[in-house]
Amino acid sequence: MSTVKPLTVVVFGATGNQGGSVLRVLAEYPKSYTVRAITRSTQSKNAQELIAKYPQVQWVEADIENPESLRPAVSHADIVFGVTQFFQPSVLSAVGTNEDAEFQQGKNIIDACVAENVGFVVFSTLPSAKKLSNGKITEVLHFEGKYKIQEYLLAQPIDSAVVQMGIYFQNNIQGASWNESGDTVVISFPGDVNRKLPYADVNRDAGPYVKYVIDNRDKTKGKVFPVSSGYYSTTDIANALTKVTGLKTVAVELPTSVFGDKDLQGMFELIKTHDVFADSPNHLETNKNVPFEFTTPETFWKTSGFQGPPK
Ligand SMILES: NC(=O)c1ccc[n+]([C@@H]2O[C@H](COP(=O)([O-])OP(=O)(O)OC[C@H]3O[C@@H](n4cnc5c(N)ncnc54)[C@H](OP(=O)(O)O)[C@@H]3O)[C@@H](O)[C@H]2O)c1
Repeated sequence: MSTVKPLTVVVFGATGNQGGSVLRVLAEYPKSYTVRAITRSTQSKNAQELIAKYPQVQWVEADIENPESLRPAVSHADIVFGVTQFFQPSVLSAVGTNEDAEFQQGKNIIDACVAENVGFVVFSTLPSAKKLSNGKITEVLHFEGKYKIQEYLLAQPIDSAVVQMGIYFQNNIQGASWNESGDTVVISFPGDVNRKLPYADVNRDAGPYVKYVIDNRDKTKGKVFPVSSGYYSTTDIANALTKVTGLKTVAVELPTSVFGDKDLQGMFELIKTHDVFADSPNHLETNKNVPFEFTTPETFWKTSGFQGPPK
């Protein structure tokens, strides 16, 4: 009989997309992991649903913008999964005055992990738009903040690794509408609909990848892992929807100016010409080591059950 104690894994963002995916996967292996899920409120609807669904998970209240709450949250943890939140009022309202608001969230988590001597930290980040574009695209703060977190983390005296999520396939559901006659699903994208970009299903792919990074930490420490099954255009994704559901689809290009803010405009300008995962040119090969079939456009539409936007 094995007497190995399960690893205590703290999961930030556990009621959201990335952290939720990590929670669901690790909770399937109670002999290997004790999951400690972090939420700002165990009374929220999301938290209450998950508490009922995963009674074996420990729930701890903490706020990544409140450093005092974080040391107890990560105390005695073997592993921490960290993710930060750019698109929320506290960070968005600081744009223009404090470009480090998202970095500060990540630093708060990392400093707590260092202070509590956590064994291994996996953080979700993104590359630097400024670096990828040789200094030309400087406005994409939700990339810069995460990249700064990555650099900060990898310089700390604790073991760590980084995952970078591809563009969420889920964005295509947000970007879907019916045409005027109501017989065709319009999948719109702010850019060339034939440009191939690295996509991932945040709900399905994040958890298995983070589990792989944790389970192989001797090999993964110090490294950066883009998460994606491959490069697909909006046209590929629309065609896959037709294949899976029989719905008529069309991919439609929007101007990047549909976004009022410079951050998202800058990101769509970046991906027009740059591969966001250019710093990890062999990532699709590396991903073959992960014992999981990552989501393709067809698997995305099949597993999401999407049958068109509401009419
Ligand atoms: N959309 C894309 O294509 C894409 C691609 C790659 C990366 N990203 C990045 O992914 C990040 C978002 O990750 P996600 O999709 O997993 O987010 P999400 O689903 O919106 O998750 C929000 C989670 O964060 C928690 N949270 C929010 N503020 C918090 C705080 N102050 N302290 C503690 N927890 C807090 C919430 O928990 P409670 O409410 O329970 O406290 C919730 O669990 C963004 O920064 C974005 O830039 C997005």
